[in-house]
Amino acid sequence: MKTELNRLPFMVTIISKSPEDTFSLGEQWSKELEAGWVIGLDGDLGAGKTQLVKGLAKGLNIKETITSPTFTLASEYEGNLKLDHLDFYRLENDKQISDCGLEPYLNPEGIAVIEWYCRWDGPKPAYLRQATITHISENERQICYEDFSS
Ligand SMILES: Nc1ncnc2c1ncn2[C@@H]1O[C@H](COP(=O)(O)OP(=O)(O)OP(=O)(O)O)[C@@H](O)[C@H]1O
Ligand SMILES: [Mg+2]
Repeated sequence: MKTELNRLPFMVTIISKSPEDTFSLGEQWSKELEAGWVIGLDGDLGAGKTQLVKGLAKGLNIKETITSPTFTLASEYEGNLKLDHLDFYRLENDKQISDCGLEPYLNPEGIAVIEWYCRWDGPKPAYLRQATITHISENERQICYEDFSS
């Protein structure tokens, strides 16, 4: 059983005023979450999903440069915890995601972060932080997130 202390029992909304704010939030999340968690990120193109992943990677002490796995579908990085970075943009539904062999990432060894998580319509991962990033202005984003664990 994972620590319940880390789990937020309600939806959190924050306003990011810059790419650096979003990066810092990712860094903060890397300290809050434990192995086994999936972070599902949604939001338009350019919302800041990958920016958040870069902060997450920094927080996990990953030295490699994070690039968007839009074409490769999944990238794996070694840090304090293993970080799997996925992008479901090009996939339509849970069947296509499973057919591509990506379903095991929903039960990760370390942390898995998935851009365009909304494409997955299968069962929720056992430990999920689900976040939506919305454009407010050129440099401002609203970030809403909620934790689920079963
Ligand atoms: N507050 C902010 N938070 C995050 N990014 C911001 C913010 N303000 C401006 N930006 C800019 O928005 C862009 C976000 O790009 P990013 O690649 O992270 O988006 P994305 O959500 O991953 O898009 P995609 O769906 O194409 O993968 C960057 O150019 C970043 O500098
Ligand atoms: Mg991206």
